[in-house]
Amino acid sequence: MKKQQARILWFTGLSGAGKSTIAGAVEQKLYEMGHHTYLLDGDNVRHGLNKDLGFFDDDRIENIRRIGEMSKLFVDAGLLVLTAFISPFRADRRMVRELVGDNEFIEIHMATPLETCEQRDPKGLYEKARKGEIKNFTGIDSDYEAPEQAEITLSTAELSIEQCADLVIDYLIAHRIIFDYKG
Ligand code: ADX
Repeated sequence: MKKQQARILWFTGLSGAGKSTIAGAVEQKLYEMGHHTYLLDGDNVRHGLNKDLGFFDDDRIENIRRIGEMSKLFVDAGLLVLTAFISPFRADRRMVRELVGDNEFIEIHMATPLETCEQRDPKGLYEKARKGEIKNFTGIDSDYEAPEQAEITLSTAELSIEQCADLVIDYLIAHRIIFDYKG
């Protein structure tokens, strides 16, 4: 009925890498093409379901576990689920992949260098982390394990928002997850 294959589009990368921005742009394009989506990101998850969690490693692991379980339910409902979380640990991303099945999990690595994220510093958090006002900040004093074999890698330092979003849409069409109805 939905004329789409349900999948998780799992955006991972540093704070300021562009996860929410690109996920939002992809969602807008999917909407315009008539697809049914749901976007999970810090704003609707860390302020609600996961508001009991902080940023120690164990909290991040639990954050991703719950998001994985939730995404699985949305996939079960037939949606294209977009998730925008740092999700810094490889083992946790693998856990979500195994939860839904390899072909239903599309890992999108926002390969934005730390220096670029730090220059952008959209929320002023890198500055605070450098001053020691925030502890365990990803990329500063907490690890980020980049994907080794992401399905899609986006160099947001070199490409526009539009170009990044188009690369994701092209991947979905090429893999027959969605169909291009234009024309
Ligand atoms: S994750 O590591 O558990 O996947 P998540 O994506 O939910 O992280 O939240 C990251 C967002 O929380 C960042 O974009 C930033 O705005 C905010 N934040 C606050 N404290 C930290 C911290 N110590 N490390 C990283 N992000 C933090």
